[in-house]
Amino acid sequence: MKTKRTLLLATCFMGCFFVGHAQHINPRQPKKTMPKTYHVADKETQFVRQLMQKMTLPEKIGQLSQYVGGDLLTGPQSAALSDSLFERGMVGSILNVGGVEKLRALQEKNMRLSRLKIPLLFAFDVIHGFKTIFPTPLAESCSWDLNLMFETAKAAAIEASASGIHWTFAPMVDIARDPRWGRIVEGAGEDTYLGCKIAEARVRGFQWNLGNPNAVMACAKHFVAYGAPQAGRDYAPVDLSLSTLAEVYLPPFKACVDAGVKTFMSAFNSFNGIPATGNHWLLTDLLRKQWHYQGFVVSDWNAVQELKAHGVAEIDEDAALLALKAGVDMNMTDGLYNRCLATAVREKHLSVSDIDTAVERILRAKYALGLFDDPYRFLDVARERREVRSSRLDSLARKAAASSMVLLKNNVAVLPLSKQIRRIALVGPLANNQDEVMGSWNARGNAHDVVTVKEGLRQKLGNEVVIDYIQGCDFTDPSKREFSAAFDAAQQSDVVIAVLGEKALMSGESRSRAMLRLPGQQEALLDTLHKAGKPLVVVLMNGRPLCLQKVDTLADALLEAWFPGTQTGHAVADILFGDVVPAGKLTTSFPLTEGQIPNYYNYKRSGRPGDMPYSSTVRHIDVPNHNLYPFGYGLSYTTFSYGKMQCPEQFSADGTLRVSVDVTNTGRFDGEEIVQLYVADKVASMVRPVKELKGFQKLFIAKGQTRRIDFVLDVHDLGFYDNQMRYVIEPGTFEIMVGSDSETLQKRSVVWLGETLPRQAKDHISR
Ligand code: BGC
Repeated sequence: MKTKRTLLLATCFMGCFFVGHAQHINPRQPKKTMPKTYHVADKETQFVRQLMQKMTLPEKIGQLSQYVGGDLLTGPQSAALSDSLFERGMVGSILNVGGVEKLRALQEKNMRLSRLKIPLLFAFDVIHGFKTIFPTPLAESCSWDLNLMFETAKAAAIEASASGIHWTFAPMVDIARDPRWGRIVEGAGEDTYLGCKIAEARVRGFQWNLGNPNAVMACAKHFVAYGAPQAGRDYAPVDLSLSTLAEVYLPPFKACVDAGVKTFMSAFNSFNGIPATGNHWLLTDLLRKQWHYQGFVVSDWNAVQELKAHGVAEIDEDAALLALKAGVDMNMTDGLYNRCLATAVREKHLSVSDIDTAVERILRAKYALGLFDDPYRFLDVARERREVRSSRLDSLARKAAASSMVLLKNNVAVLPLSKQIRRIALVGPLANNQDEVMGSWNARGNAHDVVTVKEGLRQKLGNEVVIDYIQGCDFTDPSKREFSAAFDAAQQSDVVIAVLGEKALMSGESRSRAMLRLPGQQEALLDTLHKAGKPLVVVLMNGRPLCLQKVDTLADALLEAWFPGTQTGHAVADILFGDVVPAGKLTTSFPLTEGQIPNYYNYKRSGRPGDMPYSSTVRHIDVPNHNLYPFGYGLSYTTFSYGKMQCPEQFSADGTLRVSVDVTNTGRFDGEEIVQLYVADKVASMVRPVKELKGFQKLFIAKGQTRRIDFVLDVHDLGFYDNQMRYVIEPGTFEIMVGSDSETLQKRSVVWLGETLPRQAKDHISR
């Protein structure tokens, strides 16, 4: 090893130390995450420790090593999975391979060749479904339906585990405030409060019956702040204040810990100069010592080796050592732990007990899954045949897809369409597409199982209705050769339905985009269709907010359908023809134009607010500040009216406040409304956001009916973090806001007369 290593490591640890030193938070232990004490050795501890006594050092390190399964590309730097590795007991886990037969063959090989026969752990990216593909996570977040998200995660876990999978790399709980970042599609949008609730629902869904072969371990990823890269470019460094880290990016991860998540994944990016995968403060001081997290941490793909590219390790040995010492228990794909850690122990850069800590965490996970009792307990061909088929979950997938859709515009009530309609012009690259509509992570989804929009309309309307389908254009080809046919079809139709958007892989990992208008000739196609003068309904499918000013001008109705999954066509038809009344609301703001980004709703106040009547305010001179569609926005076929918000003028002595409002369904349809509660701290010792979501309720209201909604706010949840990450709640006036989206709100000032509590660690970061 090179001599420079010691110095490099010392520098990194010091960097981490300084960040960590600034904040001794969390003296109290939150109940839910109390560490288990093992004074009286329980069965698991006894078993694991006895097993570890029999293990050689290379066998221990092997348990920390995860390889790519045989049938997938390994990438230029990924280590290959050879028989000799099995023989030496140096494979702990395999990722991205599924199917009972394949996994049984791998497990059998491991049991045959390895000395101690420690079962392999099988992992797979089951992000929004396994065989049945549900809407993308961003899409589903727009349902604001936590039960639904629990159910789809649970259903995905049942299918994946029936196919032999023990562990999914989900949920991704990165808050994303920048739609240029392609991975915004994998998360729950821009808001932390909602993001925490969704993170919890998804962890509980995947792990619904953990310990039994019909549930999988979840993984909170990517720890941390991966969603805030410079310029929205995936993998770029992240520089953030500690107060923003604590308030915006950490809470969903803490929510996962509280929900009992079994694994964490360290992020690719650096945070304030320290790569997450080598960040001792993050992975040990915060995650272990303050949050009392008990599971294990896996690196992201090759992220250990990438510590060299970050420039914090010079050679492989440095990288492996840095990651393990920081708190990365399992090394994904690059094989560095296997190659380097035994030497590091021999040369006394690392102690065996450092390795043991990580090994024990991983063996405990295998024990908890029951794999030591039966390494094949997830590998049942008959169960796979029975449970892994798309039709079993069709109705859940259809419901989830329709619930995720957001109606953005509906001029003169073009929608819902009448079933008496005689002729439809159906146009666009996504109108008859089975591949793209599944989105960027389609696991074992099969395009043949996908119901296209064309098929969904046909099944809804029968053969009497003429559907003239013309693709019109694709996503990149400059050709306009089908435009005139599309125009003719439009002219002859009663209504034009244009299904436009992005290709699935225009969002997702390493799919950042700088220009967010519809790609290719799609806007030009829309122009042509508009000239036909018929009602023009646009259905959008995309993985991120797009810049839709032009589309908004041309369309009479605009439905954001995202990537709806295997039941795409049925769900779109259900909404367009009114069998389902749309109720989704945006969980991410849609900017007017790219130059406004980031343009999230909960921005911090400024000394020169943009709404002042003179020019030197916080704004661009060429584009207004507002979004095209704000956070929380979404229309219905019915209408809701809000009564006057009821709440006292002061918080009560115990710090609570009851806020009530009557909501009446004033339209022609039964429907669901998502009532939102926001709060702003009017005067504080630090600059605070203009508003923050602090509550929501989704409720069904029959037409003509009124329902009363009650929220109970606790002032202890209205504090904030300073830049030492200490939590403070200050007395004074809070503005309480209730309404149907982040811009349409009634406001009321309420006073809290309590005393400033001393700045201290909050025992839970999540809200
Ligand atoms: C992604 C992770 C994913 C992993 C395994 C990485 O490239 O960043 O989100 O879980 O690959 O497939």
